[in-house]
Amino acid sequence: MTALLEVEDLRVAYGKIEAVKGISFTVEQGEVTTLIGTNGAGKTTTLRALSGLLRPTAGKILFEGSAIDTVPAHKIVALGLAHSPEGRHIFPRMTIEENLLLGAFLRRDQAGIAQDVERACTLFPILAERRKQAAGTLSGGEQQMLAMGRALMSRPKLLMLDEPSMGLSPLMMQKIMATIVELRASGTTILLVEQNAQAALSLSERAYVMTTGEITLSGTGAELLRDDTVRRAYLGED
Ligand SMILES: Nc1ncnc2c1ncn2[C@@H]1O[C@H](COP(=O)(O)OP(=O)(O)O)[C@@H](O)[C@H]1O
Ligand SMILES: [Mg+2]
Repeated sequence: MTALLEVEDLRVAYGKIEAVKGISFTVEQGEVTTLIGTNGAGKTTTLRALSGLLRPTAGKILFEGSAIDTVPAHKIVALGLAHSPEGRHIFPRMTIEENLLLGAFLRRDQAGIAQDVERACTLFPILAERRKQAAGTLSGGEQQMLAMGRALMSRPKLLMLDEPSMGLSPLMMQKIMATIVELRASGTTILLVEQNAQAALSLSERAYVMTTGEITLSGTGAELLRDDTVRRAYLGED
């Protein structure tokens, strides 16, 4: 069976500076795949290339076996690949409900959209309680839930989450991680970028370590948790 997402020798540059230097990895259907790596390693750049926000300079991106590296971003969403960006990018003056509806901007099936708003509200009850309030009134963790809820509104086959636990309290982080497990159980495949390597690797089937634009290590989440280099560099052990 082919992987849901296959990335082959992907290169992405900002002008003359190459941020992603020929990486290859796969995301298998039904799994959580994690990219870890220090700041500036190229993780966000990779996700932005996968969702069509940046054009790769070389390499292949295959989603369900078809090349998407020249497909415009909105069509990539329509194909089933959604991106919850680093820093969340919610619209603070719009209500929570309006923010969720933005995630369904390509859809016309009103009944299905309404169903999915309810689903996001069930997944994150705080969104239901605050539905008509401005999104800017939510705490950081709640805004992260909104960003995830919004990404889910396109009914993605693959959900990409860029540092969902950034800046959150340990309790909020646990909630986000538990939601990732719940989403996988309900059939959503996930590509996760995380600084919190311990939490991310613990729930990942597959994981890759990125270092200055390259993939330097890969394995199952459990293998990387046991790896000496990972333990020293990402888990704060000597
Ligand atoms: N808009 C940009 N213009 C120029 N360089 C950028 C831009 N965004 C990121 N970079 C550079 O690309 C590299 C990778 O950044 P990024 O993908 O954000 O890393 P990560 O998400 O792993 O922290 C870094 O060296 C960063 O400074
Ligand atoms: Mg980043």
